[in-house]
Amino acid sequence: MPKPATLVLFGGSGDLTRRKLLPALYNLALQRLLPASFAVVGAARSAQSDDAFRRELHDAVAEFSRTKPINEEVWGAFARNVRFVATPDDAGYDALRAALDRVDVEAGTNGNRLFYLATPPQAYAPIVRAIGKHELRGPGWSRVVVEKPFGRDLATAMELTGVVHEVFREDEVFRIDHYLGKETVQNILVLRFANGIFEPIWNRQYVDHVQITVAESLGVEERADYYEHAGAMRDIVQNHLLQLMALVGMEPPAAFDDRAVRDEKVKVLRALRPISDREVGARTVRGQYGRGYIEGRAVPAYREEKGVAADSQTESFVALRCFIDNWRWEGVPFYIRTGKRLPKRATEIAIRFRIAPHRIFTKDASEGLEANELVLRIQPDEGISLTFGAKVPVQGLRIRTVNMDFVYGASFMVDAPDAYETLILDALRGDATLFTRRDEVEQQWQFVDPILGAWSRGVPALATYNAGSWGPTEADTLIERDDRAWRRP
Ligand code: BG6
Repeated sequence: MPKPATLVLFGGSGDLTRRKLLPALYNLALQRLLPASFAVVGAARSAQSDDAFRRELHDAVAEFSRTKPINEEVWGAFARNVRFVATPDDAGYDALRAALDRVDVEAGTNGNRLFYLATPPQAYAPIVRAIGKHELRGPGWSRVVVEKPFGRDLATAMELTGVVHEVFREDEVFRIDHYLGKETVQNILVLRFANGIFEPIWNRQYVDHVQITVAESLGVEERADYYEHAGAMRDIVQNHLLQLMALVGMEPPAAFDDRAVRDEKVKVLRALRPISDREVGARTVRGQYGRGYIEGRAVPAYREEKGVAADSQTESFVALRCFIDNWRWEGVPFYIRTGKRLPKRATEIAIRFRIAPHRIFTKDASEGLEANELVLRIQPDEGISLTFGAKVPVQGLRIRTVNMDFVYGASFMVDAPDAYETLILDALRGDATLFTRRDEVEQQWQFVDPILGAWSRGVPALATYNAGSWGPTEADTLIERDDRAWRRP
């Protein structure tokens, strides 16, 4: 169990707090995984009473918790140590320090503090500086969790790290990429490194190519303010997709700890072949959805969404042809794609193996045979499947591709914890393995920045696709040029 601690929640009234953080905290409390002495102090600019804050959190938990209905007894015990302090100015931060000291005594939290920045990103630097200036670090340990986006390019990410380092050491900084908290994402490492049979074939000798897809059927929803400035590249590719690629591509770490795992991930990110201006037209596709249908329902074009400019150039779809230039992966393409308003929500990693080196069966017999494929379904329908050729049970020889399927739900019969439960617990324990380190974030920007630069000069042009389709035809061309095709998740 983690040591006693206070969670200091900046952005205590925001959407992330309501939808993710509080439901996660409550479910941790329900499972008795929180420290025996634990308090939450919310901080935001506008004032409200402790009780009003508690009521707001209660409603958020009731609405968004993965377990329902809310257990009032557990909630009541949890809520007793929830406070709120308004921090509109210096006096507010002084009041926050006083409140934190009081909570240490009242709740027995021993001066251990986990600062959580769940505000809009422009507030990160001022808050961190205020933590330093008003000496909010307690007499015990202090750590800071920083939500994404971490910067909007390499320069701003480095600048933000600079500010954070004025107050926290790097080993006290927990940068969130919530994909790393997903059970199925952690299972990539388990599949690869807890088993003897996959690793020997996990390389250029046996793998033909890799496809990683993060597909969403949702549109931009209520987030145009943010998304118009981010686009799919900053929203998904720079973080979630590159992290998935790093986990698939990394060498075996010597241990399962923060240093060893992140050292190996950053090596992969460093080995990513840059996409030069000359290649950006052939190796990248950016698209934006037009009108279309999702599950039979007509949906508007991106440019018709609330808060989106009528001539917006923001991409809601990205496809890239990537290479990892090292011994293991030389010449193996990693095709990655993400998009909003695709036909369904599906995140998956497909490892496509080379075909058998010598064919002893006739072409006719093997007509229905495809190369072996290992598919890691990250969400939904979490599981892993492997395809292979099998003889059709009839006279004569006919071969078909069949599927061997592992389904989480069927094998374990438990509901997986939400990614935020895992990550909050890890931050409380001080385990940074599932958080991104400074050098990872910087490498990710280093890869993405030049592409965004070329795009801002109009190369390649923004493609369009109908909502409810699998993206622009340009994305098909990107992969078909190599005589390959996208999988249908
Ligand atoms: C977030 C993005 O990081 O991830 C969202 O900002 C996206 O745009 C979300 O919808 C997807 O997360 P999940 O957990 O639903 O796959």
